Amino acid sequence: MTSGFPVVRARRLRATPALRRQVAETRLHPADLVLPLFVREGSEPRPLNSMPGVVQHTLDSVRGVVAEAAAAGIGGVMLFGVPEHRDATGTGATDPDGILNQATRVIASEVGDELVVQTDLCLDEFTDHGHCGVLGADGRVDNDATLLRYRDMALAQADAGSALLGLSGMMDGQVAAVRDALDGAGRSDVAVLAYSAKYASAYYGPFREAVESTLTGNRRSYQLDPANRREGLREAQLDVEEGADIVMVKPAGSYLDVLADVSAWSPVPVWAYQVSGEYAMIEAAAANGWIDRDRAILESVLSIKRAGGDTVLTYWATELATTLRQGA
Ligand code: PBG
Repeated sequence: MTSGFPVVRARRLRATPALRRQVAETRLHPADLVLPLFVREGSEPRPLNSMPGVVQHTLDSVRGVVAEAAAAGIGGVMLFGVPEHRDATGTGATDPDGILNQATRVIASEVGDELVVQTDLCLDEFTDHGHCGVLGADGRVDNDATLLRYRDMALAQADAGSALLGLSGMMDGQVAAVRDALDGAGRSDVAVLAYSAKYASAYYGPFREAVESTLTGNRRSYQLDPANRREGLREAQLDVEEGADIVMVKPAGSYLDVLADVSAWSPVPVWAYQVSGEYAMIEAAAANGWIDRDRAILESVLSIKRAGGDTVLTYWATELATTLRQGA
């Protein structure tokens, strides 16, 4: 201070749009974004009540959406299947004609050269009890029996043309099991995205409507406790040891501390999933006129990048990429 006034003035670099743009520490690029997509059986697309703007597509209606996503320059699409019939072991997940595998085939042939076609590898969309694995005689999720299902599911998805398998079931040893199955079948080319730090979260609420799944009980015996930060990093470390090509933190917004920890340590790319509930909250507030929708979307995704997410899975991927391209 001289004469009582500041010499250091942080506001200097905030004075004009040009200065702010020049010194921005984080930039979003369309290729940083991945769009999750739901594909159902049947001939009519279905809008989702709890996720305004998001629809369950049909094998036909999804084609326009992926073309639009590719034109917007996003990095990839993450596919989820919504089957008509479910059973105890999730047979539809390994059936080459199951909805997810069919959708993967269609989408990979449409845009597989332009963006990364990736698939959710988990049983919850396909089981009648809604758990991510198969149940043992005691009614609990049987970890190792589930790994056998994941191995088969991985091969079916690789066959269908998925380039990156998103392992979201939170079973111990799932990355090593899937890697082993792929390599054993001559598919060492297929990459593994581990949903490493996946928390048992209320923010997955609208996703249940999106995949029409009802859950018996809860997922707290396999997904992480929201109270635990150190454990999130440990899960990512285990997955990298098992051969994960990419690790992920999920949900994103409420777990930016975990994302920052994983990002500071990780030797592989770190992704984050802005989940259905995060989307629904901003859309609902905006629909009520309580929040500036466009600014809130941009700020929420930028914050995930700032915390260390290299790539963000978000239901706004195409819209946001289009805005970014227009230079807004
Ligand atoms: C598991 C899976 C879920 C989500 C992505 N993969 C649901 C869950 O674990 O309960 C949630 C995504 C979202 O809420 O947007 N198949």
